[in-house]
Amino acid sequence: MRRFDFFCRYMKKISDSVFYLGISDKERKMFDQLVPLREGTTYNSYLVKGAEKNALIDTMYAPFAAEFLAEIKAADAKIDYIVSNHAEQDHSSLIPALLELFPEAQVLCSAKCAENLKNMLGAKPEKIRVVADKEEVSLGGKTLRFYMAAFAHWPDTMFTYLTEENMLFTCDFFGAHYTSFDLYADNSPALELAAKSYYAEIMMPFASFCRKHLAVAEQINPAMVLPSHGAVYKDPKFIFDLYRKWTSTEVSGKVLIAYVSMYGNTETMARNLEKQLQGLGVCAKAIDLMEANEAEIAEELIDATGFIFGTSCILAGPHPRLVYLAYLISILKPQLKFYSLIGSIGWGGNLLAPIEANLKIPAIQKIESFIVKGAPTGGDLAAMGKFAKTIAAKVAEVSGK
Ligand code: FEO
Repeated sequence: MRRFDFFCRYMKKISDSVFYLGISDKERKMFDQLVPLREGTTYNSYLVKGAEKNALIDTMYAPFAAEFLAEIKAADAKIDYIVSNHAEQDHSSLIPALLELFPEAQVLCSAKCAENLKNMLGAKPEKIRVVADKEEVSLGGKTLRFYMAAFAHWPDTMFTYLTEENMLFTCDFFGAHYTSFDLYADNSPALELAAKSYYAEIMMPFASFCRKHLAVAEQINPAMVLPSHGAVYKDPKFIFDLYRKWTSTEVSGKVLIAYVSMYGNTETMARNLEKQLQGLGVCAKAIDLMEANEAEIAEELIDATGFIFGTSCILAGPHPRLVYLAYLISILKPQLKFYSLIGSIGWGGNLLAPIEANLKIPAIQKIESFIVKGAPTGGDLAAMGKFAKTIAAKVAEVSGK
């Protein structure tokens, strides 16, 4: 049986009107079947009580239906509105069940979200009320104002702002796959890493939208940010500062060298290149892809400027993990400016073509590969100094230095 902490056993109070209902799914190992999770995740739901009506902001992931619905019943609060900030099923899948419990309730969401809820959950259109940007809904003494936030991270996303309490509910935006908290963010390095990993997989492909939504959130200047994964931020500046750094278009100059080495030759080259680049003042980092997972690679990509694929030759081509990585980079859309390849070939093959066939980054520049036959000799490693200088020069050029 899946292990989880049932946070909302007694519904945690955030204010006299706002309550946290969340489940910590510590045993979840993967998210989107793409990135490994370090410590699982949480699914947050919030109950907002007005003088006349109550609203539930986001719901719960389906595997926890029984527990969540039991707590909703125990809360003894009639739900008048179900706010769906985003239709992805980890937040929306219990909407139909809640509508059975509260047949009078209305779902409030964006137009895109309404479409998704119909397609993904079979939600009945008559139960859904589409809200517009800045539209307000009164609960009686408490007001919900909606901010459309397309591509944070789906086109359907919106934020919900509780005006009287200055609380901003942002769903996935500012979220983290983080479970080591009680209710509020501890602003720890572990939380920063979890939020960074989350940003890299979920938000980085939409960085330009994220910059815009961050500006909106900063302008609202909420006293509290309440995402639908991870902890509640009583000090939003913590997560705002991190998002400002991660969405920045400033060129860092960092060069990643990600390699797979079958017999140590490519590893020797990768480590030599890392050392030579560092000697030239370049921030270079070599990563053994047999030891790093997708989450760690995505985190490193946030501020990477150059990417060097390092591969042995296997069956006349690159190691398949490099081909997969090229595709992963293409969908995560980091702000890479250039790429190249290093590698070792035994008897023959094409290391670059399968990688390039999957690397789709607009305007990315190419630096000629550095490939040796078999084990790199002292002469090869010395020649790598020239290759390192070419890369350092490109870093300087794209950094405007
Ligand atoms: Fe946490 Fe996009 O769902």
